[in-house]
Amino acid sequence: MNNPSPASQRGGDSEASIKRGLWSSRMAFVLAATGSAVGLGNIWKFPYVTGENGGGAFVLVYLFCIAAVGLPIMMAEILIGRRGGASPIRSMGQITRRDGHHRAWGLAAVIGVLAAFLILSFYSMIGGWAVSYISTSATGQLTGLSADAIGEIFSGLLGNPWALLGWHTLFMALVVFVVIRGLRGGLERAVTILMPALFVLLLIVVGYAMTTGHFGEGVAFLFQPDFSGLTTAGVLVALGHAFFTLSLGMAVMMAYGSYLSKNVSIAKTSIVVSVMDTGVALLAGLAIFPIVFANGLEPGAGPGLIFQTLPLAFGQMPWGSLFGTLFFILLTFAAWTSAISLLEPVVEWLEEKKGMSRGKSTIGAGIACWLLGIVSILSLNVWSDVTPLGMFAMFEGKTIFDLLDFVTASVMLPLAGLLVALFAGWIMTREALQNELAMSARSFSLWYGIIRYVTPVAVAVVFIYNLL
Ligand code: PHE
Repeated sequence: MNNPSPASQRGGDSEASIKRGLWSSRMAFVLAATGSAVGLGNIWKFPYVTGENGGGAFVLVYLFCIAAVGLPIMMAEILIGRRGGASPIRSMGQITRRDGHHRAWGLAAVIGVLAAFLILSFYSMIGGWAVSYISTSATGQLTGLSADAIGEIFSGLLGNPWALLGWHTLFMALVVFVVIRGLRGGLERAVTILMPALFVLLLIVVGYAMTTGHFGEGVAFLFQPDFSGLTTAGVLVALGHAFFTLSLGMAVMMAYGSYLSKNVSIAKTSIVVSVMDTGVALLAGLAIFPIVFANGLEPGAGPGLIFQTLPLAFGQMPWGSLFGTLFFILLTFAAWTSAISLLEPVVEWLEEKKGMSRGKSTIGAGIACWLLGIVSILSLNVWSDVTPLGMFAMFEGKTIFDLLDFVTASVMLPLAGLLVALFAGWIMTREALQNELAMSARSFSLWYGIIRYVTPVAVAVVFIYNLL
């Protein structure tokens, strides 16, 4: 899904890359951006937050956030990156200096890099869960088990900090390994096969879900809006998730945009990436909820949802061990390409700010993330009763892991996104924007109106509502 380390092309051999390389093609960019966007957010997080927030109404708000907030911001991030032509923090600096804007706008990129760092720490832990299920499935341990037995396997994993630490370490090592070396054509090619393969496997599980006799119930849960189940906090989760799943607010798309050649349409590319990302999430929902209802499970079971439902499906379908193993390999791969893109901005920042070599910055950032990840691991078992901000009603019962998730996805990402929208919509010159987007006058006006008014107002309203 990815050529996430375009740095490997920096100073590369193509004619266009005197100083910094460019993506070899539009396709390479689409793959890298999709590889970043499609990850645990789609298959792990989307179903469980949908389940926790009552289904259809949440999905509707989420789709609205993707279209009215996510897509326009994705375009803005890519265009800022391309115009700045450097790492995110430097790109924002570059544009502000060149066009005489206040330097404080660079804050958006700083929040983004910090958020990327925090997210990667727990993302790697969840990536580790996916890796561990490859072996659980391959050794046939899931075959024919009841829902209870599968639940026990999962809680056994969470209750074992040493096992979690091992998988977390393995996952982080995989990420560091790739970011240090930079990716070459090999993985880019592999991605063109693995991405469609993930799609096909999801379709197979959806096919199985159709045979459970509860498919209609699953579809209704996802698509029949019942607003009584949706709280204002749920709306904030939907907004935050739109940023998370599209890899926005973390300077990732800015970093990737900086390697994009001038003659690629930012709008079309962003639409392709958003549609694919949303498609994978909805397919995951269609695969999972029928299984939930068929087995009398709880849709609001939380972060363990896919690890308690999908193994049931694989345990019952023919060739289940094979499909299950393949599925978790692909899930690991999807998580891997996203994690790589999370580490990249942190590494670029260390290289630029601290003048460290690529090897040193990658290992340093990797170790720091790995250490912080241990906190999330412990909060699932040894520290499961530790709720540092529990005295505030809003954070009642939230463990450190829950807080990290909340602070990043629901606070930092929307905030960084808001700054990006304001910067693009109100600070950058219309000429600069028009020049980058190169759209018809009508489409440009539509985007301009959305990024100036709709996006900031939507984000601000949801925010303020939740703080009051
Ligand atoms: N979009 C990724 C996912 O849905 C997560 C991610 C966020 C990756 C931000 C990179 C940057 O899993």
